[in-house]
Amino acid sequence: MLDKLNALEKDFNGQIVNCLKQADVLNLKSQILGKKGSLSEILKSLKDATPEQRKEIGPRSNEIKQNIEKSVQSKLSEIEIKEVNEKLSKNKLDFSLRDSLLELGLRDGGIHPVAKIQREVEDIFVSMGFDVLDGPHIEDDWHNFGALNIPETHPARDMQDTFWFKDMKHLLRTHTSTIQVRGMEAKKPPFKFVGPGKVFRCERTDATHEMCFHQLEGMMVGKDITVGNLIYFMKTLLKEIFKKDMEVRLRPGFFPFVEPGFELDIRWKKPDPKKGESEHSGWLELLPCGMVHPNVLKAGGIDPGEYNGFAFGLGLDRLVMVRYAIEDIRHLHSGDLRFNKQFKSH
Ligand code: PHE
Repeated sequence: MLDKLNALEKDFNGQIVNCLKQADVLNLKSQILGKKGSLSEILKSLKDATPEQRKEIGPRSNEIKQNIEKSVQSKLSEIEIKEVNEKLSKNKLDFSLRDSLLELGLRDGGIHPVAKIQREVEDIFVSMGFDVLDGPHIEDDWHNFGALNIPETHPARDMQDTFWFKDMKHLLRTHTSTIQVRGMEAKKPPFKFVGPGKVFRCERTDATHEMCFHQLEGMMVGKDITVGNLIYFMKTLLKEIFKKDMEVRLRPGFFPFVEPGFELDIRWKKPDPKKGESEHSGWLELLPCGMVHPNVLKAGGIDPGEYNGFAFGLGLDRLVMVRYAIEDIRHLHSGDLRFNKQFKSH
């Protein structure tokens, strides 16, 4: 019997290598392991075997069964991978857009200006000892509102028109302040970090508002942190980005998660698409910020009696608009090649 078993295994090993389709593999498997399969047939004669023979045959037949099952599994996935690769190789690249790209002088791509400025700002903060954290786009009520001192009935919820999911418990984050909460959960003070990313608001779009835009949140928590520290970091940031001292204006701003809260605006020459930089200059809201509210620290598991800190949220798309004199934020996501062309070398 033992010989028969060994022969069966050998026979199986010889046959499986020749299987080209998954169905062949499955057929082979049932010919051997199926109810009427050859292994079951051999084991039927077990009743005539001596007790010594049984001791040998039992474990050996189990071993063969397992080996066969393993080989079947790996052959099945080998065939699947081969089939997928064959399909992929048939799908040739579609070059039909190439001519219009070449007409525009676009031979290759470039980094999107928002992504570029995000990397630059991250680098500036990393050089000042900040960590860079990430967070999910889909958030729960607690991380977007509750932990940020915005309880359910708070009117501040209306300030941020929210895309809710049907369960009314999840939402697309309306700001990167969610990363503040996640950072506090993960870290022990003192700490300082920035958290960049996409944010979403269900609002009408215009030249300075988009439904999906980019912020970079910053938070520093430690002992005896002051508004002076906050202003220092903000000014250093702006100077690094614009390579010159920027004219800024600080005015009181209301955000439930900071107290006191500020709006830091920069002087901006609104570009006129026909004449280049126009004479009209105004203030652009760029950096809302403030000292972290004690309730927010508490929600993040930090004792506000011992620690305090500042937080800010930088609008990355607006920064790009100022840097490249773009008059309408909607160009940034338009995918219009005539617009994209100017960034190909950046
Ligand atoms: N999260 C605020 C917003 O998007 C911005 C902000 C961040 C304000 C941090 C103060 C401190 O409107």
